[in-house]
This record gives sequence, structure tokens and C-alpha cells, in this order.
Amino acid sequence: MNPLRTPITASALALAAALAFSPLAQAQGAKLKVGLMLPYTGTYAALGNAIENGFRLYVTEQGGKLGGREIEFFKVDDESDPAKATDNVNKLIKRDQVDVLIGTVHSGVAAGMAKAARDNGTLLIVPNAGAGVVTGPMCANHIFRSSFSNWQPAYAMGEVMAKKGHKTAVTITHKYAAGDESVAGFKEAFTKGGGKVLKELSLPFPNVEFQALLTEIAALKPDAVYTFFAGGAAVKFVKDYSAAGLKKSIPLYGAGFLTDGTLDAQGADADGLLTTLHYADGLNTPRDNAFRLAYAKTYKLQPDVYAVQGYDAAQMLGIGLAATKGDVSKKADFAAALRKAKIDSPRGAFTLGANHDPVQDFYLRQVTGKENKSIGVAVKGLADPGRGCKM
Ligand code: PHB
Repeated sequence: MNPLRTPITASALALAAALAFSPLAQAQGAKLKVGLMLPYTGTYAALGNAIENGFRLYVTEQGGKLGGREIEFFKVDDESDPAKATDNVNKLIKRDQVDVLIGTVHSGVAAGMAKAARDNGTLLIVPNAGAGVVTGPMCANHIFRSSFSNWQPAYAMGEVMAKKGHKTAVTITHKYAAGDESVAGFKEAFTKGGGKVLKELSLPFPNVEFQALLTEIAALKPDAVYTFFAGGAAVKFVKDYSAAGLKKSIPLYGAGFLTDGTLDAQGADADGLLTTLHYADGLNTPRDNAFRLAYAKTYKLQPDVYAVQGYDAAQMLGIGLAATKGDVSKKADFAAALRKAKIDSPRGAFTLGANHDPVQDFYLRQVTGKENKSIGVAVKGLADPGRGCKM
């Protein structure tokens, strides 16, 4: 009898149906739904766009597939508004039924995303927001960060400023989780090094009316100022600090966001500023050079730290998917692969700590023209303490 003519039995049909709907078939066949929740409007809009650009660049370099699966994107503009975070993330989780969430920039919004990711068991990779809760009390097997914790660059700068011999500092930032945690990290290292914080100044996010606070800094006469601002607010702060005449009398330092992706707009007012960050211009490694060339060719733009973090979020997703053959439901295997991975980042290779935050070098950078030139490593292999993380 011709085997091709063998009558199809009910059990064969059942088997075929089971295979068609098995996770394996889904993993190998269906597109992987990636939910990008990022700010596309407001102070952090440029940061959101750079993260998406970086993410897409890596996917394109892999031929449009990660772990054997084609990628389909779903996008939500989170407006950096924590009050809308739960509604926004549920558009991706419940309406679009994404397999993985990528987001976001703002720490308050990221905290809302982490809660939803925990409640729904959705895989989350944070490509910027440094919120301590994400890799602290809310840490989980299926939550990862490709960027930094707010504590990390701030702690590095506290060490740098103390070593420079500054004895007193005033801090200034937006009043929300990222600003508060950045100031706390700075203060921890600066006081350990013998420094004293005279006053912690702040204003509500995303206000940029700095004048009264700049007047207060002038009156307090600290040895130096430490600041956390990013995006549009960083542009205005650096310009206002200089216009107030403070740049000449009280040196300004910051977490590197102060001058990253902002130098075209800041111009000469940023010249000479020292910051700490896990990325810098002029690293001149083959890996970074290749990335920068590909990014510039694709987008007609120079990459910044946000582009790198987006690129590495895609790399991390690729590593997890390769280990699970494209099946995001295999959370233990996904996490195990990332925990032992060395991620080949343009910033320099990094690993993940037990709390899934990058363990990485922090560069000391100085603004020279349109570049945040690396002038050395401020702290090597700095790991977030992961306070409150139990996994
Ligand atoms: C944050 O809210 O965690 C945040 C925002 C912008 C940055 C860095 C951190 O550049």
C-alpha cells in the first residue's frame, strides 16, 4: 500500500493538532512579540528613540530574528508619566499579549512596569531606568536590566570628587526616585571619602525653572556641585549653570546623563565637564568602533549611552532565546543563560550580578568639543549592592 495513501487516523490527527499548538511549534513558528514601552514625547523623548534605534540595530544585524524567531514590535509612548504606567503597560501585556516587555527610561514608570511584569509573569528587560526597586525588592527571575542602577554612576562620582579633594558639595536633581537614589549613591561614597553634603536641592520632575536653586548654590559656596539631570532638562541645566556665572567659580559634576546625547544642544557651556558613566566616546575598541559605524550609517546619528543600552537589551534577549530555542516561557533556563553570559557590549563586556543588574566599569569622562572623552576608568567592575533583592 502506498504509504502516502495511508488513511489518517483520529489519533494521528490529534497528534498533529497537539504539535501545532505546542509551545515548541509556537516557539519555532510564530513571531516573537516585543513590547517597547518608552518615552516618545517630553523631556526624555530623545532617550526613548535612541533605545529603540539601538534595539532595532541589533535585531537587524541578526537578520531580523532572535532565537530563531522573527520579531514583531508593539509600541506605547509612556510619556515618562508614572500615573499612566499601569494602564500603559497593560496595553502591551493584556491587549497586545506581548512575549517580552522592553522599557523604560523613567524610574517611576519602570517601577510600575516591574510590578506588572511580576503580577503577570511577563519577561521584562529594562534598557535604562535605574530604579533601585527593579533589581532590589522587586527583583525576579524574569526581570533584567541592560543599563545601570541609579546608585552605580553616582557612587563612582562620589569617589572621584572625594579623591579630588573636594570637602563640601551641594546636590541638585529632579525630585523622584532616580534623583533621590542618585544623590544617595553619591553621598554614600563622598562621605566615606571624607566629604560633606551641605544641602540637597531639588525640584519636581520635569520642571526646569532652576533660577532660585542656582541662586542658593551661589550663596552656599560649596567646593563643588553634584547633579543628576538627563535629556532636555540636562541641556537646560548646563546652559543655565553657565549663564548664572557658576561654571567659573563652582565646578559642576554629574552622573554622565548630564552630558550624554546632549552635547550638540549644550555647546560650549558643557565644555570641560567631568562625569561618570558606563559608556564614553573614544573607547576605540573594535567592538565599539563597529557598533558606532553601523549606528551612524543606519540612523545618520552618533550613538549615545541610551543607544548602547537598547542594543544590549536586544543582545540579552537574544542570549536568553538562544538558550530556550525561542521559548520565553522557559524562565529558569532563560535566566540561567543570562546569569552565566558575558555580554559583548560596545561599552566593554559585562556580566549580570545576582540581582540581574550589570556589573561593569564606570568611566570618568570629560567633555571635549562634542564628545564625552574617556579619561580613564573611575571604578572597575562596580556591582549594584542589590539591597532588598531576594531571588
Ligand atoms: C531614571 O529615571 O531612572 C533615569 C532617567 C534618565 C536617565 C537616567 C535615569 O538618563
